[in-house]
Amino acid sequence: QYTAEPFVPESAGLADLRKAASGCRGCPLHRDATQTVFGAGNEHARVMLVGEQPGDQEDRQGRPFVGPAGKLLDRALAEAGIDPGEAYVTNAVKHFKFTRAEPRKRRIHKAPSLRETTACGPWLAAELALVEPELIVVLGATAGKALLGSSFRVTQVRGTVLEEEIHGRRERLVPTVHPSSVLRADDREAAYRGLVSDLTVAARALS
Ligand code: URA
Ligand code: SF4
Repeated sequence: QYTAEPFVPESAGLADLRKAASGCRGCPLHRDATQTVFGAGNEHARVMLVGEQPGDQEDRQGRPFVGPAGKLLDRALAEAGIDPGEAYVTNAVKHFKFTRAEPRKRRIHKAPSLRETTACGPWLAAELALVEPELIVVLGATAGKALLGSSFRVTQVRGTVLEEEIHGRRERLVPTVHPSSVLRADDREAAYRGLVSDLTVAARALS
């Protein structure tokens, strides 16, 4: 049974949490990745954005959403009326999972398994307990399953305000697609408009 549980300090601040997460060995993903990519941003943020896992750039730089998907997300947030600098951003899984087609070739993102997502859950729970956001923006299926369970379907609930009990706290959540899926879409412009539209629902729920 993989779990981050023994690595998560009790009653710690965000800085202590981040430091502890840098040494997490709760699942095998720490072995091949460069470093733990913990959440970042405003500790008193009203909105928390939860993605899947760090990508190649995030793994190198040690910060979430600094690569192409992050750039697109920042643009979409600003357009929807949410200041990206006011948000707290994190991921369901804190280490980059990848494969290589050939040795020393480009690293290709691989989706985390349910076991790995579950193992990493205590970090996300600790972040939620500390930041206590008014609203959680759920970016895609992995984040949705991590927070709301394996029956989560992003197509069914995107752009709506959900109210759910998570780790003993009543949370409001707005799910939407993952920004990486916009970059992969056949009709990128339509996919981007869809993302902005969902984030506008989140912006309205905050005001
Ligand atoms: N995709 C994610 O889900 N998170 C990141 O931090 C970067 C890309
Ligand atoms: Fe720990 Fe999460 Fe990294 Fe696994 S992915 S080693 S649980 S921080």
